[in-house]
Amino acid sequence: MNDVPELAEFAAELARGAAALVARAAHGELQVSAKSTDTDLVTVVDRASEQWLVDQIAARRPDDAVLGEEAGGRPGTSGVRWVLDPIDGTVNFVLGLPQYAISVAAEVHKQVVAGAVCNPATGELFRARRGGGAFLGEHRLRGPRTVALQRCVIGTGFGYAADRRARQAAVVAQLLPRVGDIRRLGSASLDLCAVACGRLDAYFEAGLNRWDYAAGALIAAEAGCVTSGLRGRRPSERMTVACAPELAPTLFELLEGLDADAVVDGP
Ligand code: IPD
Ligand code: CA
Repeated sequence: MNDVPELAEFAAELARGAAALVARAAHGELQVSAKSTDTDLVTVVDRASEQWLVDQIAARRPDDAVLGEEAGGRPGTSGVRWVLDPIDGTVNFVLGLPQYAISVAAEVHKQVVAGAVCNPATGELFRARRGGGAFLGEHRLRGPRTVALQRCVIGTGFGYAADRRARQAAVVAQLLPRVGDIRRLGSASLDLCAVACGRLDAYFEAGLNRWDYAAGALIAAEAGCVTSGLRGRRPSERMTVACAPELAPTLFELLEGLDADAVVDGP
Protein backbone atom coordinates (compact mmCIF):
# COMPACT_ATOMS: atom_id res chain seq x y z
CA MET A 1 0.00 0.00 0.00
CA ASN A 2 2.78 2.44 0.98
CA ASP A 3 5.30 0.76 -1.29
CA VAL A 4 7.82 3.46 -2.33
CA PRO A 5 8.42 2.34 -5.96
CA GLU A 6 4.66 2.24 -6.44
CA LEU A 7 4.25 5.76 -4.97
CA ALA A 8 7.08 6.99 -7.22
CA GLU A 9 5.44 5.49 -10.30
CA PHE A 10 2.13 7.13 -9.42
CA ALA A 11 3.83 10.49 -8.72
CA ALA A 12 5.35 10.42 -12.22
CA GLU A 13 2.02 9.44 -13.74
CA LEU A 14 0.27 12.30 -11.92
CA ALA A 15 2.86 14.92 -12.94
CA ARG A 16 2.79 13.75 -16.57
CA GLY A 17 -1.03 13.71 -16.68
CA ALA A 18 -1.43 17.18 -15.16
CA ALA A 19 1.29 18.48 -17.52
CA ALA A 20 -0.73 17.20 -20.50
CA LEU A 21 -3.82 19.01 -19.15
CA VAL A 22 -1.86 22.25 -18.61
CA ALA A 23 -0.25 22.03 -22.08
CA ARG A 24 -3.69 21.67 -23.69
CA ALA A 25 -5.10 24.60 -21.69
CA ALA A 26 -2.11 26.93 -22.15
CA HIS A 27 -3.49 28.56 -25.29
CA GLY A 28 -7.04 29.03 -23.97
CA GLU A 29 -8.63 31.63 -21.67
CA LEU A 30 -6.49 31.71 -18.48
CA GLN A 31 -8.72 34.01 -16.34
CA VAL A 32 -5.82 35.39 -14.31
CA SER A 33 -6.47 36.67 -10.79
CA ALA A 34 -4.29 37.76 -7.85
CA LYS A 35 -3.92 35.93 -4.50
CA SER A 36 -1.76 37.09 -1.54
CA THR A 37 -0.49 40.22 -3.35
CA ASP A 38 -1.04 41.79 -6.81
CA THR A 39 1.98 39.87 -8.13
CA ASP A 40 0.97 36.42 -6.79
CA LEU A 41 -1.13 35.03 -9.65
CA VAL A 42 -3.50 32.12 -10.12
CA THR A 43 -5.38 31.02 -13.25
CA VAL A 44 -8.27 28.67 -13.96
CA VAL A 45 -5.63 26.25 -15.27
CA ASP A 46 -3.84 26.10 -11.87
CA ARG A 47 -7.20 25.18 -10.31
CA ALA A 48 -8.14 22.66 -13.01
CA SER A 49 -4.71 20.99 -12.77
CA GLU A 50 -5.02 20.64 -8.99
CA GLN A 51 -8.59 19.34 -9.24
CA TRP A 52 -7.48 16.71 -11.76
CA LEU A 53 -4.62 15.61 -9.47
CA VAL A 54 -6.90 15.42 -6.43
CA ASP A 55 -9.50 13.41 -8.39
CA GLN A 56 -6.87 10.90 -9.57
CA ILE A 57 -5.59 10.42 -6.01
CA ALA A 58 -9.13 10.06 -4.63
CA ALA A 59 -9.93 7.42 -7.25
CA ARG A 60 -6.74 5.37 -6.85
CA ARG A 61 -5.75 5.99 -3.21
CA PRO A 62 -8.83 7.25 -1.31
CA ASP A 63 -7.21 6.94 2.14
CA ASP A 64 -4.26 9.25 1.37
CA ALA A 65 -4.06 12.87 2.55
CA VAL A 66 -3.49 15.75 0.13
CA LEU A 67 -1.87 19.17 0.52
CA GLY A 68 -2.41 21.36 -2.54
CA GLU A 69 -1.48 24.97 -3.18
CA GLU A 70 -4.83 26.20 -4.43
CA ALA A 71 -7.57 24.25 -2.61
CA GLY A 72 -5.70 23.22 0.54
CA GLY A 73 -6.36 19.48 0.38
CA ARG A 74 -7.86 16.93 2.74
CA PRO A 75 -6.82 14.65 5.61
CA GLY A 76 -6.21 10.90 5.22
CA THR A 77 -5.69 7.73 7.24
CA SER A 78 -3.01 5.79 5.30
CA GLY A 79 0.09 7.74 6.49
CA VAL A 80 0.69 8.94 2.90
CA ARG A 81 0.30 12.60 1.97
CA TRP A 82 0.54 14.03 -1.56
CA VAL A 83 2.04 17.52 -1.78
CA LEU A 84 0.93 19.22 -4.99
CA ASP A 85 1.88 22.35 -6.87
CA PRO A 86 -0.48 22.31 -9.86
CA ILE A 87 1.62 24.98 -11.65
CA ASP A 88 4.91 26.08 -10.10
CA GLY A 89 5.91 29.23 -11.96
CA THR A 90 2.43 30.62 -12.63
CA VAL A 91 3.81 34.04 -13.61
CA ASN A 92 5.93 32.38 -16.34
CA PHE A 93 2.88 30.37 -17.41
CA VAL A 94 0.80 33.55 -17.77
CA LEU A 95 3.59 35.22 -19.77
CA GLY A 96 4.15 32.17 -22.00
CA LEU A 97 7.72 31.71 -20.72
CA PRO A 98 8.40 27.95 -21.01
CA GLN A 99 9.70 27.55 -17.43
CA TYR A 100 6.89 26.21 -15.23
CA ALA A 101 6.05 22.76 -13.91
CA ILE A 102 3.69 20.44 -12.11
CA SER A 103 5.30 19.28 -8.88
CA VAL A 104 4.08 16.13 -7.09
CA ALA A 105 5.65 14.70 -3.93
CA ALA A 106 4.60 11.68 -1.85
CA GLU A 107 5.31 11.74 1.89
CA VAL A 108 5.09 8.73 4.18
CA HIS A 109 4.71 9.80 7.81
CA LYS A 110 5.93 13.31 6.86
CA GLN A 111 9.09 12.16 5.06
CA VAL A 112 9.22 12.81 1.30
CA VAL A 113 9.85 9.43 -0.36
CA ALA A 114 9.05 10.18 -4.01
CA GLY A 115 8.84 13.21 -6.25
CA ALA A 116 8.11 14.10 -9.86
CA VAL A 117 8.39 17.48 -11.62
CA CYS A 118 7.13 17.82 -15.20
CA ASN A 119 7.50 20.87 -17.44
CA PRO A 120 4.52 20.90 -19.85
CA ALA A 121 6.27 23.31 -22.24
CA THR A 122 9.30 21.05 -22.81
CA GLY A 123 7.86 17.66 -21.83
CA GLU A 124 10.81 17.06 -19.45
CA LEU A 125 10.01 14.80 -16.50
CA PHE A 126 12.35 14.80 -13.48
CA ARG A 127 11.73 12.15 -10.86
CA ALA A 128 13.28 10.48 -7.83
CA ARG A 129 12.52 8.06 -5.06
CA ARG A 130 14.32 7.96 -1.75
CA GLY A 131 17.38 5.75 -2.06
CA GLY A 132 16.68 5.09 -5.76
CA GLY A 133 18.47 7.97 -7.51
CA ALA A 134 17.16 10.88 -9.59
CA PHE A 135 16.36 10.83 -13.29
CA LEU A 136 15.52 13.15 -16.19
CA GLY A 137 13.60 10.81 -18.46
CA GLU A 138 15.77 7.66 -18.35
CA HIS A 139 19.00 9.59 -17.72
CA ARG A 140 20.44 9.30 -14.18
CA LEU A 141 21.29 12.69 -12.64
CA ARG A 142 24.59 13.34 -10.84
CA GLY A 143 24.38 16.99 -9.73
CA PRO A 144 26.36 20.01 -10.88
CA ARG A 145 30.00 20.37 -11.94
CA THR A 146 32.64 21.09 -9.33
CA VAL A 147 33.47 24.80 -9.54
CA ALA A 148 34.73 27.45 -7.13
CA LEU A 149 32.20 29.84 -5.57
CA GLN A 150 33.46 32.81 -7.57
CA ARG A 151 32.58 30.97 -10.81
CA CYS A 152 29.25 29.50 -9.70
CA VAL A 153 25.97 30.33 -11.42
CA ILE A 154 23.43 30.38 -8.60
CA GLY A 155 19.65 30.31 -8.95
CA THR A 156 17.36 32.01 -6.48
CA GLY A 157 13.81 33.36 -6.28
CA PHE A 158 11.81 36.09 -4.63
CA GLY A 159 8.59 36.03 -2.65
CA TYR A 160 5.52 38.12 -3.34
CA ALA A 161 5.45 40.56 -0.38
CA ALA A 162 7.43 43.83 -0.58
CA ASP A 163 9.18 43.36 2.81
CA ARG A 164 10.40 39.89 1.88
CA ARG A 165 11.63 41.13 -1.50
CA ALA A 166 13.55 44.01 0.05
CA ARG A 167 15.36 41.53 2.32
CA GLN A 168 16.03 39.11 -0.59
CA ALA A 169 17.35 41.98 -2.75
CA ALA A 170 19.77 42.98 0.03
CA VAL A 171 21.13 39.40 0.18
CA VAL A 172 21.52 39.21 -3.61
CA ALA A 173 23.32 42.61 -3.64
CA GLN A 174 25.95 41.17 -1.27
CA LEU A 175 26.17 37.85 -3.09
CA LEU A 176 26.48 39.00 -6.70
CA PRO A 177 30.02 40.43 -6.45
CA ARG A 178 31.24 37.18 -4.83
CA VAL A 179 29.85 34.57 -7.29
CA GLY A 180 29.95 33.87 -11.04
CA ASP A 181 26.39 35.00 -11.70
CA ILE A 182 22.80 34.85 -10.46
CA ARG A 183 19.67 33.49 -12.23
CA ARG A 184 16.01 34.07 -11.31
CA LEU A 185 14.23 31.54 -13.53
CA GLY A 186 10.80 31.66 -11.83
CA SER A 187 9.97 28.09 -10.80
CA ALA A 188 11.48 26.75 -7.58
CA SER A 189 10.81 23.09 -8.38
CA LEU A 190 12.57 23.42 -11.76
CA ASP A 191 15.42 25.38 -10.11
CA LEU A 192 16.06 22.42 -7.80
CA CYS A 193 15.90 20.03 -10.77
CA ALA A 194 18.32 22.33 -12.64
CA VAL A 195 20.86 21.83 -9.84
CA ALA A 196 20.20 18.08 -9.97
CA CYS A 197 21.08 17.99 -13.69
CA GLY A 198 23.87 20.59 -13.65
CA ARG A 199 22.10 23.49 -15.37
CA LEU A 200 22.70 25.54 -12.22
CA ASP A 201 25.64 25.18 -9.82
CA ALA A 202 23.50 25.97 -6.78
CA TYR A 203 20.11 27.34 -5.70
CA PHE A 204 18.78 28.96 -2.57
CA GLU A 205 15.51 30.60 -1.66
CA ALA A 206 13.85 31.84 1.54
CA GLY A 207 10.08 31.76 1.97
CA LEU A 208 9.10 28.81 -0.22
CA ASN A 209 6.01 26.74 0.46
CA ARG A 210 6.24 22.98 0.93
CA TRP A 211 4.63 22.33 -2.47
CA ASP A 212 7.34 24.46 -4.17
CA TYR A 213 10.28 22.40 -2.88
CA ALA A 214 9.09 18.95 -1.64
CA ALA A 215 9.62 17.05 -4.92
CA GLY A 216 12.55 19.14 -6.24
CA ALA A 217 14.54 18.89 -3.00
CA LEU A 218 14.32 15.07 -3.08
CA ILE A 219 15.36 15.06 -6.76
CA ALA A 220 18.41 17.26 -5.98
CA ALA A 221 19.33 15.13 -2.93
CA GLU A 222 19.02 11.90 -4.92
CA ALA A 223 21.30 13.44 -7.58
CA GLY A 224 23.97 13.67 -4.86
CA CYS A 225 23.48 17.31 -3.88
CA VAL A 226 23.55 18.72 -0.38
CA THR A 227 19.93 19.83 0.13
CA SER A 228 19.42 21.67 3.37
CA GLY A 229 18.52 24.82 5.27
CA LEU A 230 21.20 26.98 6.92
CA ARG A 231 22.92 26.20 10.25
CA GLY A 232 22.18 22.47 9.98
CA ARG A 233 18.44 22.85 9.55
CA ARG A 234 16.41 20.73 7.15
CA PRO A 235 15.16 22.30 3.89
CA SER A 236 12.09 24.30 4.89
CA GLU A 237 9.88 27.28 4.27
CA ARG A 238 12.57 29.34 6.00
CA MET A 239 15.40 28.38 3.61
CA THR A 240 16.10 25.73 0.98
CA VAL A 241 19.60 25.39 -0.50
CA ALA A 242 20.91 22.83 -3.01
CA CYS A 243 24.48 22.52 -4.29
CA ALA A 244 27.32 20.07 -4.86
CA PRO A 245 28.90 18.73 -1.64
CA GLU A 246 32.26 20.32 -2.59
CA LEU A 247 30.68 23.78 -2.72
CA ALA A 248 28.59 23.44 0.44
CA PRO A 249 31.11 24.66 3.07
CA THR A 250 31.84 27.99 1.30
CA LEU A 251 28.29 28.62 0.05
CA PHE A 252 26.69 27.88 3.42
CA GLU A 253 29.24 30.06 5.24
CA LEU A 254 28.48 32.94 2.87
CA LEU A 255 24.67 32.61 3.10
CA GLU A 256 24.82 32.25 6.90
CA GLY A 257 27.04 35.34 7.12
CA LEU A 258 24.47 37.29 5.09
CA ASP A 259 21.65 36.01 7.32
CA ALA A 260 19.87 34.88 4.16
CA ASP A 261 17.33 32.92 6.23
CA ALA A 262 16.32 35.85 8.46
CA VAL A 263 12.67 35.43 9.39
CA VAL A 264 10.39 37.78 7.41
CA ASP A 265 6.62 37.54 7.68
CA GLY A 266 4.47 37.31 4.54
CA PRO A 267 4.44 35.39 1.25
C1 IPD B 1 6.72 30.46 -7.04
C2 IPD B 1 7.88 30.04 -7.91
C3 IPD B 1 9.00 31.06 -7.82
C4 IPD B 1 9.45 31.27 -6.40
C5 IPD B 1 8.28 31.66 -5.51
C6 IPD B 1 7.18 30.61 -5.61
P1 IPD B 1 4.24 29.73 -7.75
O1 IPD B 1 5.70 29.48 -7.08
O2 IPD B 1 8.37 28.78 -7.50
O3 IPD B 1 10.14 30.68 -8.57
O4 IPD B 1 10.42 32.29 -6.37
O5 IPD B 1 8.77 31.73 -4.18
O6 IPD B 1 6.10 31.00 -4.81
O7 IPD B 1 3.59 30.85 -6.99
O8 IPD B 1 4.47 30.07 -9.18
O9 IPD B 1 3.58 28.42 -7.55
CA1 CA C 1 1.75 27.28 -7.90
